[in-house]
Order: sequence, then structure tokens, then C-alpha cells
Amino acid sequence: MCGILGYSGERQAAEILLDGLAKLEYRGYDSAGIAVVNGDKITVEKNKGRIQTLRERIKKNQTPLTGTFGIGHTRWATHGEPSDTNAHPLWSDDLLVVAVHNGIVENYKELKQELTSYGYSFYSQTDTEAAVKLIDYYYRQENDPLRAITKAIKKIEGSYCFVLLFKNNPGEVWGVRKDNPLIAGQGKGESFLASDVSAILQDTRQVYYLDNMEIVKLNKGDVRFYDSEGHAVYKKISLVTWDSQAAEKGGFEHFMMKEIHEQARAVKDTLRSVLNTDAEKFDLNDLGLNDENLKSVSRIYIVACGSAYHAGVVAQYVIEDLAKIPVRVELASEFRYRKMPLEKNSLAIIISQSGETADTLAAMRLAKNNGIKTLAIVNVVGSTIAREADNVFYTMAGPEIAVATTKAYSGQLIACYILALEFARARNEIDRNYYSELVRDIQRLPEKIDEILDEKERIKEIAGSFIDSEGAFYLGRNIDYAVAMEGSLKMKEISYVHSEAIAAGEMKHGPISLIERGMLIVGILTQKSLYAKTASNMIEAKSRGGFIFNVMTRGCEFLKDEADFIFYIPDTDEHFAASLAVIPLQLLGYYVAVARKLDVDKPRNLAKSVTVE
Ligand code: AGP
Repeated sequence: MCGILGYSGERQAAEILLDGLAKLEYRGYDSAGIAVVNGDKITVEKNKGRIQTLRERIKKNQTPLTGTFGIGHTRWATHGEPSDTNAHPLWSDDLLVVAVHNGIVENYKELKQELTSYGYSFYSQTDTEAAVKLIDYYYRQENDPLRAITKAIKKIEGSYCFVLLFKNNPGEVWGVRKDNPLIAGQGKGESFLASDVSAILQDTRQVYYLDNMEIVKLNKGDVRFYDSEGHAVYKKISLVTWDSQAAEKGGFEHFMMKEIHEQARAVKDTLRSVLNTDAEKFDLNDLGLNDENLKSVSRIYIVACGSAYHAGVVAQYVIEDLAKIPVRVELASEFRYRKMPLEKNSLAIIISQSGETADTLAAMRLAKNNGIKTLAIVNVVGSTIAREADNVFYTMAGPEIAVATTKAYSGQLIACYILALEFARARNEIDRNYYSELVRDIQRLPEKIDEILDEKERIKEIAGSFIDSEGAFYLGRNIDYAVAMEGSLKMKEISYVHSEAIAAGEMKHGPISLIERGMLIVGILTQKSLYAKTASNMIEAKSRGGFIFNVMTRGCEFLKDEADFIFYIPDTDEHFAASLAVIPLQLLGYYVAVARKLDVDKPRNLAKSVTVE
């Protein structure tokens, strides 16, 4: 997710762009850049790092950056690590086309091959540059931005929002979107393009929301829209009533809730990053995992902390069951101090949202020093773990602002499922038809996540009953136990209610003595063969006064009479159930924290990235 901006008007564009980008930094902050047009000259200023760095650099320039229209970008890297070269704006030769992009050009490799055959060369590692040069290719033919854009978007696959300048069309700022937001702001003698309203609210509240495949042209106060064939389109103007703070959160009260709602997108983008074009199998060659590599692995170690560790526990069950490879999951802070004999032909999977967690980084270095191949599952492109691992599988969740992870965790689960499927396929451990069925099933998870979110009010209503809870237990078996771990962490880290995840079969070995009347007992039942077992543990807890809160797969007939509250999740293949069962538990932790009037996005004592031991 990146922040993009465009301005055309009478005022100096540089300041407007820098101020607007500062309001979009929550969308990405790896690098920043602006392009401003003065007469027939386009000047681009960009650098790795924050917008403040860019602002200071521009201020020191001998020649002031003048011009009354331009574009700007603050980046969250997906292809090509953060650097001055990979920073946006990107351009074609002679700066004929200069553009910024939010999204993923999935077929950028094919486009680059085609453009190279036309004589194009490339200076960056970004997917964006391929799109910019494709538009340049058509612009040189047509000398018309609209025709260049309409031709190019027929060939660009993926999700995108481009904002562009064309050298021979001074005063004009163009935009086009598919699956990424773009709004146009209408001012007096001036107009704006932005990823979201927060960037322009100080200048106008009159906005147009572009629909998919729509094109927009700004020229000072004149704003025009076109469809993907280049036909003029009429759009209704809207009035924004949000304040800018709310706007950064997309209208949600907290970043955490916004990110809970971005999970379907994170899952979809993570899937699409390795799904091959016919959407029937995954291509992990870029992760250093061809079929030979997948066959040669004798054992897998998974090393992580916190929620990333919980994703690893899910992965252990799924990989062992599908691929029949022994998996050992270890807390990074333990792994690095154990004297564990590590098997040579093993693979260490290192999971980390930030890619900077000290314990996880140290554990990865230990594995590498022992000659173990490392594959990192990371959300932040170019982070230390991503750079030092032998290979990296990026979760495409975009920047996660809330300290409590949700969408990155969901992306980690998807990455782990994909690895399990590809290990199983390459090692002939899975029936071909079942493999294809699972590949289809995993692609239906985003819509099922959104289906669950449609019922979030039910969780909100019940959450109020637990604000004075003395504590909570989260029970499950197998994958449900791994989900219990993550649900319990969500509760304790943001609502400060002490909670504990227990393997349901362990209750009778001690913890059951802790149950007090009214204590929250969360039971997760998604693994059909274990329904009866977990149900009996829940009944034992009920008989001691516990409040039974169940998350169960639709169709599960257990506990209908005994449970105090049941949240049914859509059916899916059991290997993927964690992705759905965790959603109501994220919501539960969130709503209890809100009911307790706590700082949901920045819980006490916690940091988004624990870079100390
Ligand atoms: C999760 O909600 C927590 N914020 C925390 O447990 C986190 O998962 C852990 O610190 C690991 O962080 P990482 O994924 O960035 O390595």
C-alpha cells in the first residue's frame, strides 16, 4: 500500500504535495518523492526514507522547486527494496512520462520482456517501471495521454492506481485505478488526486470516488473522467464529512479495525504474488524452492515470536499433515539458546512481520551459521531478516500500523499453507484432485473472511460482558489450539485481560482448577474429528461456572444447548480453518479493549517491532 498524490492549479505544487504526502505516510514510508512541472521542465526529487528527509533535501537545493502542478508518492515496497532508485516517481526516457503507482503489476516480467524487445531498458527493480514504459510506448505512438492509458491498461495485470504527468501535456495530471483507491478533489481553480481523502481535506471536502478502470484528467479546476475505452463519464461529487485523523483510518475508529478489514485483501495479494496465471498452482521458484529443493528437505524448523510464532504452530499441523515432513516450531528467544542438534538437509522458516525482531534475527543467524537454509516469511520489504535470509516469501499485507498484528498474521498463514501445498505436491504426498481442490479453496478465503466481518456486531454486543473479566481461557486441539494461542494473545495484549491458551486436553491436568464463575472460556471447534473431544472439555468448564463462548464451523452440531454464545464461521477445508476462526477472536479482543476505553492501536508497554532482546 503506498500513498499517492497529484495537484494541478495556481499554487506552488511542491509544498502541497509534501504536506499531503505527510498525511499519507501511514500507507508506507520506505521512500518518498515528488515531480513538479515548470513550463516544459519536469523536476523529480526522491529518496529512500521518510518525507521529512525529502523536505529537508529540497529545502537545501540551490534552485527552488517551482511549478504549479505535479505528483507525489510515499512508498511501501513490494517489488524492489527501498532505495533512491526504486523510489517513486519513476519515468521513461526524456521524462516523457513520469508516474507514481500504488499496487502490484503482476505481469511486470512479461511486460519488461516485451518492452526490451522494443528497445527499452530498465534502471529500477520495481514492477512499476514496466507499466510506466508501456504507457510511454503508447504515448510515443499516439501523443495522447488518454489513448496511451486506455491501451496500456488492457495489458497491465494486477492491482494499480497510477498518477501520471506527460511532458507534452503541460498543466494536466492523469490518474487511473484498478482495485486500489483513487479520489479526485475539486477546488477553486485547482484540483487534486489522492489515495485517500486524508491528504487533501485541508484543501477541499468535495471529492469524486473513481470506480475501477476509470481514468481522470485534472487541469487546474477542470476535472474530467473517462471509462477504460476513453469515453467521457459523468461522476457525482461527494462531500467528505470525516476529520483528517479518521480519514487516515479509512473511517474506522482505530487502525486495528481498519487492518482487520484489510485481511481479505492481504490474503488475496499474498496468494496472487505466487499464484501462476491459470490460478491452478503456485510458482515458488523465486523463493528458491523448485521441485528439487522441495523434495530434498528432510525436516523443517519454524522460528518466530508472538503472533508469528502462532502462525508457525498452525503451519506445523498443516505441513505435517499434507506434506508428511516433520516440523519443529520454536520460539526464537528459546531456539537461539538451545543446544539443539540441527539436521543438515533441513529448512528453517523464519516468520516475522517487521523483519527486525531481535530474537528472530538472532535465531535465523544461528540457523545459517549451522549451514541450515533459511526462508523468511516477512511483511516489510528490504528488512534485515528479509535481506539476510537465503530466500524470502513476502506477505503482501501492506504497512501494519496497529501494534497488534492481524492482516500480517493472516498473510503469514497463507504463506504457510502455500508452502505446505507445494511441499506436498512436489513430494507426491497429495492426490492431484485434492491438491487442485485445496488451491481453489484457499482462493475462497478472502470472501469468507469478509462474510465473517459482516457479523462483527454480534461480537461487539457480547464483548461488553467481559470488561471486568478476571481472566479467560482459550481452548482448542490441533489447529484449533494454535488459533487459541493467537486469540488469547489478542485479548491480553490489547484489553489487558489475562488470558491463557490451553490445549483442551490439558485442562484436566491442572488449569481447570482456575475456573471461576462467569470466567470467559473460548472454545474453538473447526477440526471435525476432534469436535466431540473439545466439546466435552467445554462442558467440563461450563459445569464449573465458565461462560462458554464458541467459535465453530457452520454445521457443527455440538454445544448448541450448552454454549452461552456461538459464532459460526463458514465451512472451509480444515487445513485453512485458522484463517477464519481467528477473525472473531481478533474482534473479541478489539471490542473488549474498546469497551475498556484502552489505546487499542498502541497498547501499553508494547512496540510494533521488538528490536531489543
Ligand atoms: C502481535 O500482535 C504482537 N504485536 C507481537 O507478538 C508480534 O507478533 C511479535 O513481536 C513478532 O513480531 P514480528 O512478526 O515483527 O517479528
